[in-house]
Formats: sequence, structure tokens, C-alpha cells
Amino acid sequence: MSKKIDVEKYFTPDLTQARKRTKKTIEEVQFDLIDTYKSIGHNKTYIIHTYGCQGNEADSETMAGILELMGFKKTSDESDADVILINTCAIRENAENRIWGELGRLKAYKRQNPNLILGLAGCMAQEENVVERVLKKYQHVDIVFGTHNIHKLPDYIQTAMFGKERVIEVYSKEGEIVENLPKTRNHKYKAWVNIMFGCDEFCTYCIVPYTRGKERSRSKDEIIEEVKELVKQGYQEVTLLGQNVNAYGKDKKEDDYTFGDLLRDLNDTGISRIRFTTSHPHDLDRKTMEAIRDCEHVMPFFHLPVQSGSNRVLKKMNRHYTKESYLEKLNELKETVPGISVTTDIIVGFPGETEEDFLETLDLVEKADFEGAFTFVFSKREGTPAAKFEDDTPEEDKKQRLYRLNEKINDGYLRGSQRFLGETVKVLVDGVSKHDDEVLAGYSEHQKLVNFRGDQSLIGKIVNVKITVAKTWFLMGELVD
Ligand code: SAH
Ligand code: SF4
Ligand code: F3S
Repeated sequence: MSKKIDVEKYFTPDLTQARKRTKKTIEEVQFDLIDTYKSIGHNKTYIIHTYGCQGNEADSETMAGILELMGFKKTSDESDADVILINTCAIRENAENRIWGELGRLKAYKRQNPNLILGLAGCMAQEENVVERVLKKYQHVDIVFGTHNIHKLPDYIQTAMFGKERVIEVYSKEGEIVENLPKTRNHKYKAWVNIMFGCDEFCTYCIVPYTRGKERSRSKDEIIEEVKELVKQGYQEVTLLGQNVNAYGKDKKEDDYTFGDLLRDLNDTGISRIRFTTSHPHDLDRKTMEAIRDCEHVMPFFHLPVQSGSNRVLKKMNRHYTKESYLEKLNELKETVPGISVTTDIIVGFPGETEEDFLETLDLVEKADFEGAFTFVFSKREGTPAAKFEDDTPEEDKKQRLYRLNEKINDGYLRGSQRFLGETVKVLVDGVSKHDDEVLAGYSEHQKLVNFRGDQSLIGKIVNVKITVAKTWFLMGELVD
């Protein structure tokens, strides 16, 4: 449990607690909404602003599901909303700065409508310094809750609305697994499915193990049931979510059921496409690679964050692999699943990273032949070990490294597009293109964005498209039978 500070009634985060890992078994809790809460939102509206990763997008769908069960209706008009929730991300400083700006901006609506309930949720709420700042300087925020207690949202809304009290309740603990949560999904054909929560990797730069608790896997039966239900509802694609999906099931040693087994079982549910994110290289095993090879519904796409190509930096990051062992595993994956598209994440300017270290990263990028990457400049996160590492690289050098890296990464995107020229690919049609509503857009099995002319009745279907143009960021083609 977290320590209580300041005012007795507030539960504020505690990063030292959040870091602790024990062998205690993870509890499974069932969500239930008491009848008296089911009409609280009658004639009232809500908005949720979501930042951060797919895990947060999935959490926002749960928050929306809970609010709708309470009778709230979604609106897009902030001046009309009765509840505004901001689901936040703490991964980098610039992500947080945007959110502070957002909180300032929303103050105007609170002045206009004093009954408006403004809530801060997500990973930022799990940080000590954030909650201190909200307590002192953001009096207009009514509710603060973290990643462990989304299911208690009805209580918080009720207290803020009728008790007219501020609610600050953040737990810094390993966490449990909450089932039976309602979800209002944002997409009709593609769905997020959580397969595990938390992270035990403790990469030295990363805040996630502190904000999301211990690595814990959902039961396979719950996951399979959820996917079967999605198939019934007409969903075509699921993306399995976890900070390190390759570790799925490893927290339940007695079951001997891991990620590869789950992929095989989900392949039989009738869902057309299975994707997953994210993976830690050192937990990627042969069984998973073979499952991708054998399962026709598991897509030939793999996001495998490498972070750096320098062994010295990888060690300081606590990543448990070397440049050589990463490349070896990658080659094994590419040999097992020919044609698989691989993307990655890379951080430049980690404390103490030299020009030589950076050149190792460029060399790895060349050898790995990635077809895309998210690239970042290191951002210092209070409470993580790397925040105390000496960092004497000038910001300007870090920016230059990012620029040089991105040039190489963009070449990879282009090569990854060009290999499909003249090929016919299967596209799940998402909707109309952002730039031209007579053009349809969707993703191929290898996760390439494809634009082509076609009738809007094709939205939600999987169609064949022959690729005629290959650009860095997208493909263009013609519908074929
Ligand atoms: N669990 C996932 C990724 C989570 S965060 C994984 O390990 O693959 C997504 C990416 O953000 C990370 O892969 C990393 O590249 C980046 N990141 C995390 N912490 C960061 C920090 N402090 N500064 C810069 N980038 C960071
Ligand atoms: Fe962060 Fe590392 Fe866990 Fe990914 S694996 S969430 S980078 S600690
Ligand atoms: Fe951000 Fe939390 Fe996801 S820090 S990246 S929202 S796990």
C-alpha cells in the first residue's frame, strides 16, 4: 500500500514502493458496478483525452466503458462535457510537458462550468513529483487516479460529483488483474486485447516498471474468450498488448504455457489477423518464432526494440543482450519466418553515449535492415537509475545523432515499401484516406499503409491490392479480385 502523506485522505504515489517486487501470487478481481451508480451519468457527457502507448488506449476504452455503464454519453465538445479525463503518459519529458499544457488549457472550461469534473489518470499520476505539483498548483483537477485503480472510477466520480471533494488515490503496488471490465472500443474491426500488465525488466532509463507494476499475465481462458467474443462481433484483427509480450506466462511457471502457445490457440479462434506489441529481445524464444511461422492468422510483422547497438550502452541500459546476440536472434527470426517485416525502437544520447557508441548503433541498423523505427533522444526520468548517470553529451550532439539515425531509418522504410512493388498484398480496409475521401486506406499483413481506389462498402473487409507505387511512408495500388 502507498504511504499516506499531507492530508490523511489522499493516497499519493511512492516510487520506492513501486519498485518492489515480491513472490506474492497475483490476485484476480472481478469488476462489478453497483446499481446506484448506474444512473449517475444520466443526461451527462464525457470526453477522454489519451496520450502514450496502446496500453493507454486500451485503458481509455475501459474508462469509456465504465462511464457508459454509469449512463454517461460521449461528446466531442469540451464546453459541453460534464467529465473530462486525461489519460497520461510519463515515458519522456516532452510527453509530460504537453499534458501540463493541456491541464492549463482546460482550466478555462472549469471556470465556465464549475460542475465540470476534471480527472488525471494514467502513468503520470503514478509519479510522486506529478501528484505533488497537482496538489499545489492545479487545484482545478478534481480526481487523480493511477493505472492500478481504473476499476474504481465510479467511486471517484461519485465522490467528486456529490461529495464535492477532491479525490487523489494512487496505489504504488505490484498490482492485480481485474476482469469483467466493460469496454467501449474505438474501432469496429480492430481491437486491443491486453494479455499481460506491468514490466519487470527495469531498463535503467524507463519509468514503466514503476508506473505499471509487476509483470503479470492474464489467464489464457480470459484472453481466448475475449478474442472469440470479438470474432462474434465482426472484428477482423486483434493486437495483443503487453510491455513485453514475449514474457507472457513466464510469471506462472507451474502452467508451462507461454506466448507461442497463446498464439497457436488464438490462431484457432477464427480471428483473421493477430498482431502483438511489444517484445523484449531476450525473452523472444524459438517457440514464438515457430508459432508465427505456422499460424496463418499471425501477421508477418515484428516490432523488436533494440535501443542501442553499443554493448557498453546496452549493459548500462540493463538490456541483457549484446549487439551480436540481438542480430543472431533477429537472423533466426528472419530465417524462420521468411519475408517478415521488422521494426524497432532506438534511444540516442543515453548518458555517456560516445560517438563510437552511436556509430555502433548505425552499424546495427544497417545490418538489421529494419523497415522502420521509433527513435528518441534520451529523456531523464526522475526515480530511474539512469537519472543519476553522468550525462555530458551536449543536447546539440544528441539532436544531430537523432537526425543522422533517422536518415538511415528512412532508407529502411523505403526499402521495406519497395519490396512490395508489383506484388499483390492483402489489405484490411480501415476507412478513407486522410487526404482524399475517394481513396481507401488500410494496412497490409506486413503492416504497410496502402492507399487505393475502391468503394466505401469495402471498409472492414480484407481485399487484394496490387502495388503500383512504393513511397517511404505508404504504398499505392489497385484493387484486384
Ligand atoms: N516495453 C516496450 C516499450 C515501452 S516504451 C519495450 O521495451 O519495447 C517505448 C519506447 O520508448 C522504448 O522502447 C524506448 O525506446 C523509449 N523510451 C523509454 N524510456 C525512455 C526515456 N527515458 N527516454 C527516451 N526514450 C525512452
Ligand atoms: Fe521499459 Fe524496458 Fe520494460 Fe520496455 S522492457 S517497458 S523499455 S523497462
Ligand atoms: Fe507512456 Fe505509460 Fe505507456 S509511460 S508509454 S502510457 S506504459
